[in-house]
Amino acid sequence: MQGVRHRGRGVDDTVRIGIIGLGEVAHVHLAALPIVAGAQLVAVCDARSGVVEKVAQQTGARGYVDAAAMVGDGGLDLVMILTPAATHRMLVELVARAGIDVFCEKPIAVNLEDAKAIVEVCDQTGIRCFYGSTYRYLPAVRSARELIKNGAIGKAQLMSEIVVSGHGLEGYVPLPFSHYPEGGPGGPGMSLIDHGVHLVDIFGWLLDEKPQSIIGHGLKSGQPAGTEFLIANYPSGAIGHLLYNNATFPTSLPNEGIFAGGAGWGNDGQYVPAGGWINDPGSISVWGTSGSLRIFHYANALFMNTGKGSQRVETPGLAPPGHFSAQLTACVQTIREGGMPAVTARDGLVALSVVLAAGDADKGIDPFG
Ligand SMILES: NC(=O)c1ccc[n+]([C@@H]2O[C@H](COP(=O)([O-])OP(=O)(O)OC[C@H]3O[C@@H](n4cnc5c(N)ncnc54)[C@H](O)[C@@H]3O)[C@@H](O)[C@H]2O)c1
Repeated sequence: MQGVRHRGRGVDDTVRIGIIGLGEVAHVHLAALPIVAGAQLVAVCDARSGVVEKVAQQTGARGYVDAAAMVGDGGLDLVMILTPAATHRMLVELVARAGIDVFCEKPIAVNLEDAKAIVEVCDQTGIRCFYGSTYRYLPAVRSARELIKNGAIGKAQLMSEIVVSGHGLEGYVPLPFSHYPEGGPGGPGMSLIDHGVHLVDIFGWLLDEKPQSIIGHGLKSGQPAGTEFLIANYPSGAIGHLLYNNATFPTSLPNEGIFAGGAGWGNDGQYVPAGGWINDPGSISVWGTSGSLRIFHYANALFMNTGKGSQRVETPGLAPPGHFSAQLTACVQTIREGGMPAVTARDGLVALSVVLAAGDADKGIDPFG
């Protein structure tokens, strides 16, 4: 079925959506859905019956505690898999074999075997897999990509995000084994596997390149807190750099921070609504041969310095959490109009392989050897 051509359903057709997984991220997707033209939520599923009942009542969607039963009842054009990454393979296989297009949240899986199986089942069945890369829909990131593509900062040489923050070792909360099984990649929400997987996708997207070698060190689920890092080398000579430790404290100076132009999480994991003050905002720095950029992704602010000091740059588009509806709009539009997803399971596989290579690099393994 590889290479199957996807014809559009037609712009007057409604895309009937089912959701599996009604946890934290599902609430952001559920809030985004009503403003997505042509999308209709028709079914929801979660292993927790109380949550299913509540969401089904609020939305008017059919409720299920068993994903196979939801898929088996049919009447779905797209199933969104919003469960922990360890469950993605099993659920993508279920949905793909029923011939239904799928949206799968990041990370695509927790190991390469599962990620490759996801790509394979989508190829075999000819269904489309939309990979959840919300960062590609953040206006500050999109504007930065345009500037880089147009040569505004010359040749991009170094991209870096540093998330060294938190509430000390006592306040350190790794994600549970249901998300990241013991012994595999793991850590808190601001770790290489859970957050860095967004960033390595963005680094590659900013450059339109895939890395050719990686060095790094990643945390394992169930092991003590520590520092993680990744250095990705790209064919153009550019370098992508990530540094994480969420079991310490920020080094921000008093009153350092930014007013949030959008809603999102600071480096310490704290949720800040639009307009709120973020002491420790997440940002990506990009240094080029004739300028530099500072991308405050969630705070929706972008600054450029081409030798005259940092100037703020416009970031048109929906500020966070609007990037979730922008992502879903693109997905629904592709199903209605035909064509392939802008971000696929293969992109998810690349991002995961980069993060896992960093996790294993300290063992002396050459991930691309
Ligand atoms: N794009 C983003 O910015 C973003 C943000 C947060 C989370 N995520 C991703 O979304 C996914 C879910 O994260 P979360 O924080 O919402 O997790 P969560 O733990 O809050 O919720 C997961 C839900 O899935 C349900 N579930 C698990 N297995 C199931 C199964 N087999 N059938 C039915 N229901 C099942 C659980 O009962 C739970 O309600 C993860 O892959 C995560 O990395 C993405």
